Amino acid sequence: MIVYFNGRFMPKEEVKISPDDRGFLFADGTYEVIRSYNGKLFRMEDHKIRISRSLEQIRISGVNVGSLESIADKLIKENHLEDKDASVYIQVTRGVAGIRSHAFSAENMSPTVYAYAHGFQIPAEKWAKGVKAVIMPDIRWSRCDIKGLGLQANVLANQQAKESGAEEAIFVRNGVVTEGSHTNFCAVLNGELLTHPDGNYILPGITRTVVLSLCKKLNIPHREYPIFESQLNDAEECMILGTTTEIMPVVQINDRKVGTGKPGPVTVKLQQAFQEVVGN
Ligand SMILES: Cc1ncc(COP(=O)(O)O)c(C=O)c1O
Repeated sequence: MIVYFNGRFMPKEEVKISPDDRGFLFADGTYEVIRSYNGKLFRMEDHKIRISRSLEQIRISGVNVGSLESIADKLIKENHLEDKDASVYIQVTRGVAGIRSHAFSAENMSPTVYAYAHGFQIPAEKWAKGVKAVIMPDIRWSRCDIKGLGLQANVLANQQAKESGAEEAIFVRNGVVTEGSHTNFCAVLNGELLTHPDGNYILPGITRTVVLSLCKKLNIPHREYPIFESQLNDAEECMILGTTTEIMPVVQINDRKVGTGKPGPVTVKLQQAFQEVVGN
């Protein structure tokens, strides 16, 4: 596998990351996952805008965000993924510090940039049949709008979900459904698609933006509006959204069926429209 590391493309085995890297010591960095369809990166511009914002918010400078597109493109080509279902992972950390100290000195740091592309099996059966999700308290920090590397709360929640036979953990903060451990969440209530408003409690997902614009195009009533946990009992449909998850129907939450227990009409309509957008 050919990867990118600090300005060079090389076999993955040759990458040498310092134990003093603040990504390793503090999870001090950010990342993006970009989907490629038929060798073409999907919504790369939006990913560049999002990583620029994350970098600015966590005060990492010196990254040539413009170059990330050609790096991602080259990784797809070098690894022969042009006609495969693939995604690119890009990670930026604050870089290597001499001694471990919480505070950083911005002047002396040079960010570490690592990226790889890999092929994956699309979850076609899960898209068709839907998945189970479980509700969990949202114990994450309150800057979920930053795509930070510190994902321990997400990791543990998803692990617990998987151990209980579910696909995803859906977080609830103060009675309000925020998002999944690695996905955004939406529900259809009284024919209207609702998803948590943008802000510091959710990641502004790129798939979520595509879905909201598809709702507009298809005249599906929709609103960025809080969904209370108590309303989930009445949801006609639920979905989780993400770059590799795409639009995944949620047909069971905890021990309760959602709607009929099958993917609903709004979900199916959005899934079909999404495939057109990505060129499938
Ligand atoms: C917490 C969280 N919410 C939402 C998403 C979905 O974002 P996107 O559609 O940009 O992949 C992700 C993706 O990794 C995520 O980690």
